Amino acid sequence: MVSPTARHREVIISQTKTRQRVRDLAEVYTHEREVTAMLDLVSDMFPSLDRPRDIGRTFLEPACGAGNFLVGILDRKLAYVKFGGLYRSVATFETAVLRALSSIYGIDIDPENVEQSRQFLKADIAHHMNLQLNTVPVSDGFWLAVEAILGTNVIRADTLKDGQRIRLVEYHWQRKTGYVIRDWSPLEEPNAQFDLFGEVPDECQRDEVAIHYSLLADSPEAVRVERHGGRTK
Ligand SMILES: C[S@@+](CC[C@H](N)C(=O)[O-])C[C@H]1O[C@@H](n2cnc3c(N)ncnc32)[C@H](O)[C@@H]1O
Repeated sequence: MVSPTARHREVIISQTKTRQRVRDLAEVYTHEREVTAMLDLVSDMFPSLDRPRDIGRTFLEPACGAGNFLVGILDRKLAYVKFGGLYRSVATFETAVLRALSSIYGIDIDPENVEQSRQFLKADIAHHMNLQLNTVPVSDGFWLAVEAILGTNVIRADTLKDGQRIRLVEYHWQRKTGYVIRDWSPLEEPNAQFDLFGEVPDECQRDEVAIHYSLLADSPEAVRVERHGGRTK
């Protein structure tokens, strides 16, 4: 069988795109060999035979390039998300896949790299879904949820300069299968001292009610509850 990371060999083997990009962005992608060795150093961050449900540990790659680390991390989590094993229904299986993905974050200053990282992560999930579900169909809304999570978690920004402006979304998966509460917070806390002329940071936001993953794409903002009646966005 082809190893999961082998599908990304094109990027991993060609560690550079152009000389100009190496000069401008210090863009040299880490080889699969080093990715594996470095992830081995933090093996307790990944699920294992005695902790198979431990798929939600958070990783942030502040200069993610084409996503070599992100894909390596996702692979190690998905290795323990098997349909029919711990996850017997499509709903619990899909929720686990989304939980694994939603705890991985990548930032890059270059839009092409951001897009490539998203595409590689998506291809990795597609491969996993085909392998695990075979002919069982993926539910409506699953791929929209994947897109929504990739949109919040793999972003274009200058990690060095934009720390206080970057909003990351934490996904808190609820006991009820498929339901999640999102929490928006800055990558870097604003300076404690009030800066009269500085930008006023947005308030941290949080969904007031849990929403199903199939609605993530339709609800990019925090879901609010109207005090005098029904639910609003
Ligand atoms: C040496 S490459 C490493 C890519 C990836 N971490 C890997 O190991 O394959 C450096 C990456 O940092 C990105 N980068 C450079 N300056 C950055 C900044 N200030 N904020 C975010 N990303 C940056 C570049 O676009 C490039 O993709």
